[in-house]
Amino acid sequence: MNFSNYAKHYSSQSGIVQLMEDLSVAPPQDGSLYPLGGGNPAHIPEVQDALRESALALASDRHRFARMIGDYDSPQGHEAFRQCLAEQLSSLFQRPLTADNIAITNGSQASFEVLFNAFAGRYADGSWRHIALPIAPEYIGYNDMSRQERGILKSTAARIDLLGDRQFKYGVNLSEFTVEPETTGAVCLSRPTNPSGNVISDAELSQVADRCRTAGVPLIIDGAYGLPFPGMIYTEATPFWDDNTILCLSLSKLGLPGVRTGIIVATPDVTRLIRNANAINGLAPARTGPELVLPLLQSNTLTDLLERVIKPHYLNKQVAAVDALLAAAGDLPIRFHQPNGAMFLWTWFEGIPGGTHELYRRAAQEGVVTVPGHHFFQGLETTWQHANECLRINYAGDEHTVREGIERLLLIAKRQYQQG
Ligand SMILES: Cc1ncc(COP(=O)(O)O)c(C=O)c1O
Repeated sequence: MNFSNYAKHYSSQSGIVQLMEDLSVAPPQDGSLYPLGGGNPAHIPEVQDALRESALALASDRHRFARMIGDYDSPQGHEAFRQCLAEQLSSLFQRPLTADNIAITNGSQASFEVLFNAFAGRYADGSWRHIALPIAPEYIGYNDMSRQERGILKSTAARIDLLGDRQFKYGVNLSEFTVEPETTGAVCLSRPTNPSGNVISDAELSQVADRCRTAGVPLIIDGAYGLPFPGMIYTEATPFWDDNTILCLSLSKLGLPGVRTGIIVATPDVTRLIRNANAINGLAPARTGPELVLPLLQSNTLTDLLERVIKPHYLNKQVAAVDALLAAAGDLPIRFHQPNGAMFLWTWFEGIPGGTHELYRRAAQEGVVTVPGHHFFQGLETTWQHANECLRINYAGDEHTVREGIERLLLIAKRQYQQG
């Protein structure tokens, strides 16, 4: 088929395409599959029970069910859900928010496509502005979002602080990271960060936010794993929003990636833009996620699940994964990022011959599916060896599978180091 130039924006070489395809990879012949790759959250029985109950109540209410499947929603998204969420966020952020501050999308991946292209590219004054990522590595899904004639990401390489117990932590390199009114369209960071599990500190966040505010540049905070939900943060972190912030939330990591619901919390000029984009690109966002979760928000069941079930669930998984990694590490020169949030062990195979792309390839052949690190270092102006030495392990799966997957991965890494 002969496509226009626009089709180059949808390349099958994209890391996110590879990652999503890998979610449905088959086990190797006469072998098992260890799916430690993509971003599927855990199936947590108590969360699934609460959602199933909500779905049963919805299905048995003729009126609600008929509206959910039979009517398009308004293009800004479910009114009652937006109102209820606005009330809860007002008390969390100590700011008066209304439904006008909230827009619903078909998943936050769809939110970023609109936001990045609305703030990056050519401006009316002739300037060209980019999206600045204060820390590389950052979420793989930000790559390939540009619908402009060239790339729109500009990243600052993270500062690496080495810690004890084979750990390290990234920080914002504040002497390199700049926000320029004429060239920066928006700044974006995920908190917690996918892939590293980093949670940038309140102090760092407030410095980044101050720079944005001073330059008149919006700060996009990707809270896909963060606050107020799903709350996968295992360290001190204060939720942050002000009227220069665009907070992107999602129902996915709560356990609903299949229903595709993204949430944007911002000033009304931004949420109206999202409303228009929803109508133009897809008529309206789906109603299913808001309908399922609204009763849980109203009854505070969600708040209870976050603290009592979801956070401890992931913490237990994390302890088991760290334990497996440390036990299998032996004399390999590996470290992992301090796991302060999300559901990933970001592992640094220092000096690995052939890089972690080769490790990913060899491991995948033996059924251990991970994500090679280089995809997460988008928007850097110079090459950085570190980008070829990291690999992301998702520890949300079944504990036995994760443990065995990690053991196998490190055996394969050992062979790769030995072969030189
Ligand atoms: C940091 C981050 N942001 C955004 C997304 C997109 O999530 P969704 O489109 O499912 O809401 C993901 C998914 O893995 C993510 O990890």
